[in-house]
Amino acid sequence: MADKQNMALVHPSQEILDNALVKNYDELYQYSIENREAFWAEQAETLRWIKPWDKVLDNSNKPFYKWFTGGEINIVDNAIDRHLTGETRNKLAIIWESEAGQVRSFSYYALNREVSQFANVLKSMGVQKGDIVTIYMPQIPELVFAMLACAKIGAAHSVVYGGFSYEALAARIEDAESRVLITADGGFRRGKPIDLKAIANEAMKRSPTIEVCITVRNNGIDAEMESERDFWYHDLQSLPIASPKCPTEPMDAEDPLFILYTSGTTGKPKGMLHTHGGYAVYTATTHRMMFDIKPGDRYWCAADPGWITGHSYIVYAPLINGATVMMYEGAPNYPYPNRWWQMVEKYGINILYTSPTALRGLMRFGDRWPQRHDLSSLRLLGSVGEPINPEAWRWYHEVIGGGRCPIIDTWWQTETGGAMICPLPITPLKPGSATKPFFGNEIGIVDDEGNEVPAGEEGKLVIKNPWPGMARTIYKDDARYAELYWGDYGDKDYYKAGDSAKVDEDGYLWIIGRMDEVIKVSGYRLGTAEIESALVSHHSVSEAAAIGLPHEIKGNVIHTYVILKEGVTADKPLAQELKEHVASEIGRIAMPEEVSFVEALPKTRSGKIMRRVLRARALGQDEGDLSTLEE
Ligand code: PRX
Repeated sequence: MADKQNMALVHPSQEILDNALVKNYDELYQYSIENREAFWAEQAETLRWIKPWDKVLDNSNKPFYKWFTGGEINIVDNAIDRHLTGETRNKLAIIWESEAGQVRSFSYYALNREVSQFANVLKSMGVQKGDIVTIYMPQIPELVFAMLACAKIGAAHSVVYGGFSYEALAARIEDAESRVLITADGGFRRGKPIDLKAIANEAMKRSPTIEVCITVRNNGIDAEMESERDFWYHDLQSLPIASPKCPTEPMDAEDPLFILYTSGTTGKPKGMLHTHGGYAVYTATTHRMMFDIKPGDRYWCAADPGWITGHSYIVYAPLINGATVMMYEGAPNYPYPNRWWQMVEKYGINILYTSPTALRGLMRFGDRWPQRHDLSSLRLLGSVGEPINPEAWRWYHEVIGGGRCPIIDTWWQTETGGAMICPLPITPLKPGSATKPFFGNEIGIVDDEGNEVPAGEEGKLVIKNPWPGMARTIYKDDARYAELYWGDYGDKDYYKAGDSAKVDEDGYLWIIGRMDEVIKVSGYRLGTAEIESALVSHHSVSEAAAIGLPHEIKGNVIHTYVILKEGVTADKPLAQELKEHVASEIGRIAMPEEVSFVEALPKTRSGKIMRRVLRARALGQDEGDLSTLEE
């Protein structure tokens, strides 16, 4: 770390500096923290409001902060409607390419027709303002239409990532009490069809609240449809009810826009709730400033819309900013490892935003794959989801960006709604550091009492102020929200991120990783408790522990330790069966790399598993303080 912190700064080119939207970070930063509400009010004014707000920030009921109270807005009015009168109307909003090479594109005008039709279909199925619609789809344009259609009519969406299993889907439907589920027959991965509707059907058997399921035809595989509950979207779309005209519902700034489930310290996923007003302001501002968005830009965030990165930076922010959004459904190296680079060249992508895992995965195939392509359209490169190691950073910078594209390493979370720590294109960079706080944010690296630790020392990452994009609560669980994220430091109202980090002498921030029982596998966020409870649900398992261990490409992988029930024989086939079991309970992303059978697990006297000890043993490190270890 010491070496890394002292490394030479990587400076942006004169061209980047000349074209930058924000020319002086320090000055604007100082202004934004001294005049936080004024700063955010100025940003909010770039959006279209149906009714102006009375108050920028209402902090009368901490930690339940409210932004732009009294204001009325709809994020879709900003992402689509307001573009329909000007030049943006005929500009491409979305270009989508399937793995098989099919291309579909939609202008803002066409997007509006699609979203309005979808919205009218939802209305005809009884969806109303305030409902929560669950969406479980592959990465196809209809996923975006469905999200925007919900928001347009004032329903909240709960998107469940298409890689999750039926158990995970059912648990999320149950928590959201959704009456309507939107899905697709399936998608493709590496040329193989994936049967999503069958998974949705399994989930619906466990979800009594679902009355209506709308299925979009995508991969054409046979889907079992139940009469009265199941409808094909294309059938509904051909009915007169699906008019391409639909009014956009005025929403209170604080009305829910979506809930998105994420993993935490317990087995129960947390439904983070985001709202129309503050979220629109925060995501649009961060996106515009960190990526220097220009009207002609072709922008590609290669995440899945089913995660927060996709919600904020594929769907909402780029559309609000009137960009052209690239989407690709498929594996990055299918059929060959040049697939992404081929698309960058073909579509003339200017900004690419992806995860370190994806980069490491492509890097291992060597430089010749990207070098076959003209990548000169690229201007900026983004990274998100986990710390980017300096090797991957350099490869991204040199081989992909030709040494001319700043790397915008953005630190944030499902809870924060948008990027909290990130460089601007003008920021001198240090490979591996997310650099400085975004405007309005004061970041602290603190000890257990909330006091700043000295530069170079590891501490807890806290955010010392509210910001418009912050989650408002955990759906149906205010108490858990207040306890998990706030209130550890007496009268200091700090948001606890759950990450550890360092700050160096130049004020650059270095994220180290999660401190809680969250594991980042290929950038996906998983809780040890979820994996453990999936294992224990298997009939031969009595107890289980899961930990994350470093992995060259995935960042971390899951290792598990299992105590079997009496009389069960530990063997290789059982280990494989347990891995598959976790994959079918949660999804393939959660599949353990290793299952080790053990006689006992290290525990504290109060019975808590000491994962730290397991991790130290696995890595051959010092086990640290064992005074609380039970005999
Ligand atoms: O540990 C941090 C890591 O991802 C966590 C948040 O995960 P999630 O809610 O799934 O959101 C991911 C996409 C925004 C954080 O607590 N993380 C995210 N971005 C970075 C990061 N770690 C280091 N550097 C980053 N740029």
